[in-house]
Amino acid sequence: MKTELLKYFKQYKELYDDEIFVSSIKSSESILDEKPHKKTDPFSSLTVLKNDVINCKKCSLSDTRTNAVFGVGDFSASLMLVGEAPGEQEDLSGEPFVGRAGQLLDKMLAAIDRSRENDVFICNVLKCRPPENRDPKSDEINQCEPYLVNQIDLIKPKLIVALGRIAGKTLLGVDKSLKDMRKKIHNYHDSDLIVTYHPAALLRNPNWKPYAWEDFKWIRSILEEV
Ligand code: URA
Ligand code: SF4
Repeated sequence: MKTELLKYFKQYKELYDDEIFVSSIKSSESILDEKPHKKTDPFSSLTVLKNDVINCKKCSLSDTRTNAVFGVGDFSASLMLVGEAPGEQEDLSGEPFVGRAGQLLDKMLAAIDRSRENDVFICNVLKCRPPENRDPKSDEINQCEPYLVNQIDLIKPKLIVALGRIAGKTLLGVDKSLKDMRKKIHNYHDSDLIVTYHPAALLRNPNWKPYAWEDFKWIRSILEEV
């Protein structure tokens, strides 16, 4: 028992350095918490969760949003993509990644023979748009994160791809640069997790596109492993 614990903490330290990270899996409204011993049906649970998100007023972003953006795609997807927060187009339509960054993301998915309709689920850390697309505040992330944790635990993807530093640092519970998090296979609950460039960053810095393409080829090879 003692050696197992030591091994666990050693692995933990390798992943997270000295940061102690406790994921906030509990959401007061969560159907998962109400019936811990009952086997959950991921499809109906995700539908209930979606309804919670659409009606959520836990943080002040609910005052300024048009639509909360739950996420889109396949509830049993092997690949889950997590962005930062909805922008203007996403707030208006209620769907993630539909603006310019989203169009680039769709092209990158097509290059690995996937699409938002085909074995992929796409969502964001924050479900509501921050005014003027400002950076998410830490209290907003803390309020909203249980929805993302529940989405991941219900979908159980083989691979989670965090798009950009905000998604990476939220999921890994560390304050690191993108460079420090990229090109490594991390672990999140029962899934592998990697961190790559946010497509909006690639629109601003097209010279990073070849590196993102390397990451997407790697994503395809991870998904092809049995
Ligand atoms: N940027 C994001 O991080 N998410 C979106 O849904 C759109 C743009
Ligand atoms: Fe609720 Fe998240 Fe929207 Fe805040 S950002 S109101 S916590 S869904």
